Amino acid sequence: MAEIIDTDKEPDRAIERACAVLAEGEPVAIPTETVYGLAADATNPDAISRIYEMKGRPRFNPLISHVSDTAMAEAHVTFDPLSRRLAEAFWPGPLTLILPQRRDSTVHALASAGLDTLGIRMPDGFSRRVIARFGRPLAAPSANTSGKISPTSAAHVEADLGDKLKLILDAGPAQIGLESTIIKVDGDEIRLLRPGGLDAAAIERLLDRPVIRLESAGATIEAPGMLASHYAPGAAVRLDAAEVHAGEALIRFGGGRILGEEQAAIVLDLSPAGNLREAAANLFDYMKRADASGAQTIAFGPIPSEGLGEAIIDRLQRAAAPRA
Ligand code: TXA
Ligand code: MG
Repeated sequence: MAEIIDTDKEPDRAIERACAVLAEGEPVAIPTETVYGLAADATNPDAISRIYEMKGRPRFNPLISHVSDTAMAEAHVTFDPLSRRLAEAFWPGPLTLILPQRRDSTVHALASAGLDTLGIRMPDGFSRRVIARFGRPLAAPSANTSGKISPTSAAHVEADLGDKLKLILDAGPAQIGLESTIIKVDGDEIRLLRPGGLDAAAIERLLDRPVIRLESAGATIEAPGMLASHYAPGAAVRLDAAEVHAGEALIRFGGGRILGEEQAAIVLDLSPAGNLREAAANLFDYMKRADASGAQTIAFGPIPSEGLGEAIIDRLQRAAAPRA
């Protein structure tokens, strides 16, 4: 069973233990502000293999390399001017940039799945202190079995991967609750490969140009992790429900009642006050709770599509997609 260290109570021991386990080439579950990550030394191919093994993840799916500061990022990727402005404005934070990997970068090809680019991000919170001490980038996908809902608490990680892991750092619930927004700058085009915890509108305001959505660009799936069925709970998922059928779990937004909800197995509201940030932070935990109710189907009430709603709806559409 995994050892769990509370990072508020024992920050120094948490960092020491994490770095010791990472140096052995073993993955460690670390708290980031978006979701909990399954982190390993990005320069060590054995360590990276263990991530793929633990998650049961297809090898072609590249991982994000997490850095603690700009100097560490610059040792591994080359920044174009627009990406640099994004990093300056939004790092540390829920933004991943896809950038050309430097020839002298020591991040192993297993982490980038052999692409000539690297997904790179400077996370906020305790994980950044771990990376700074470790001194090398950490490759980290979300700390869940491939295709399952991402974990936003140490308890989620323990329930899913606790018997495979040596160490989980517990920093409480993830503040953002949705994976990072993934951006790739292509010439003067800003392409959104995955909506996430950073609202794309904030990027448009900063750079004063539109962010190109995958759909509108008619592009092929460029972030290989963006398989249609992803983030799946055990139960079936039904979106935009105007009414609830008997025995379904209901997850709604904004405090309004939904027709038939008194017959639901469980009723959860992502944000009774209608706040999308709060909804994002609660999303994955509530999906797990709805799943645990034993209901065959989780019905979601309508969710607004602006701001962080874009990323929330993206995750729900994947959860509702036919399972591969
Ligand atoms: O918030 C997050 O991003 C979390 C925390 C742990 O940092 N991580 C996360 O990792 O969500 P993961 O592995 O679940 O998703 C990584 C995504 C995948 O869709 C992958 O295809 C894409 O990033 N990606 C990574 N490197 C890439 C590259 N070089 N080119 C295109 N897409 C890339
Ligand atoms: Mg994931």
